[in-house]
Amino acid sequence: MTPPEPNALRRDRAGDRRRVLLVTGAAGKVGRALRPYLRERYDLVLHDRVAIDDPHDGERIATGDLADAAHVRAVVRGVDAVLHLAVVHGVELRFDPSIDANFRATMHLLDAVRTEGVPRFVYASSHHVHGLHPRDGFAGDDASYAPDAVYGLGKAYGELAATAYARRYGIRTLIVRIGNADPTVGDDRALRLWTSARDLAQLVAIGVENPDVACDVVYGVSACPDPLYRNRRAHLLGYRPTDRAEDHLDPEFVAYEAMPQRLGREYVGGRYAAIDLPFPIGAPPEHEEEA
Ligand SMILES: NC(=O)c1ccc[n+]([C@@H]2O[C@H](COP(=O)([O-])OP(=O)(O)OC[C@H]3O[C@@H](n4cnc5c(N)ncnc54)[C@H](O)[C@@H]3O)[C@@H](O)[C@H]2O)c1
Repeated sequence: MTPPEPNALRRDRAGDRRRVLLVTGAAGKVGRALRPYLRERYDLVLHDRVAIDDPHDGERIATGDLADAAHVRAVVRGVDAVLHLAVVHGVELRFDPSIDANFRATMHLLDAVRTEGVPRFVYASSHHVHGLHPRDGFAGDDASYAPDAVYGLGKAYGELAATAYARRYGIRTLIVRIGNADPTVGDDRALRLWTSARDLAQLVAIGVENPDVACDVVYGVSACPDPLYRNRRAHLLGYRPTDRAEDHLDPEFVAYEAMPQRLGREYVGGRYAAIDLPFPIGAPPEHEEEA
C-alpha cells in the first residue's frame, strides 16, 4: 500500500453535519470542565477507563484502557477528531507506571487516527514541557524543551509523536500546552498561565475546525497579567480569550513571596521542577505515595 504523501493535508469530511469528537480522559478534571462547552458544538464520544455517568443528548460513553491497541482502534473508528486528554500525573510519578497512559496510549491513538483516516488530532500538552526553565528571563513561546519530572517528559514525548504523525501523514494537529486549568487561581505562578474551561474549549474548536491548523503549538492560557506566554500562534489562528485570571482568584491565593521553596516558585514548572527527577525504573516502594 502506498503511504499518503507527507504533508498532503486531509480534507475535513464532516461537511455541514455536526462533527464527532472523541475525548479521551473524559472523566478527569479537564474533561469534565470542557464537556458542557464541547457538547454545544460537537457530538461527543467520552472515553475513560473509569465509568462516566449521565450522558446527555449527543454524548456516547466508551470505557476501556488506551493501552489496548485493538480497543483504541475500535473507539477511534468513525470520529472526525480526537482530543487526547488521558494521562497519569503526579510529582512523584515514576517512569514504569507512566508508560501505558503517557507513552503507549498516545502511540495507539495516533496510529488508530492514521489507519482510520481521522483528519484532526488535538493533544493536551502542558507548560511542564518547559518546567525546568527558571521563571526569570523565561523565553515564553520561544522557549526550548526543558521537561520537568516524568510527567513533563511524557508530555514532551507526546508532542513529538503527534508531530511525527502530523508531518508524515498530514493529520491536522494542534498541540495545546495547557497552563493551569484549576477552577480558581491558587497562586502567583498559576496567575500567569491560568485558563478557564471556556477558553480552553475555544482552542479545542480551533484544533478541530480551523483550516490553517497543520501542525501547530499554542498555549492553553486565558487573559493573564504578566503572562508567561504571549501565545502568538493562537492569536493568529483566531484565539481571543474571554476570561481573565484576575477575576478567578482563589480565596486562599498565595503570592510568590509566600510560596515555600518546595513549591518551586523560581521555576516555570513549580513544584514539579523543585524535586529530584524521580526517574528510577519501577513502581515506587510501597511506603511512597504516588500523587
Ligand atoms: N489540570 C491541569 O491544570 C492541566 C495542566 C496542564 C495540562 N493538563 C493536561 O490536560 C489533560 C487532562 O488533565 P486532567 O487534569 O483532567 O487529568 P486527570 O488526572 O484529572 O484525568 C485524566 C483521566 O485520564 C484517564 N486515564 C488515565 N490513563 C488511562 C488509560 N490508560 N486509559 C483510559 N483512560 C485513562 C483517567 O482515568 C482520568 O480520568 C492531561 O493530558 C494533562 O496533561 C492539565
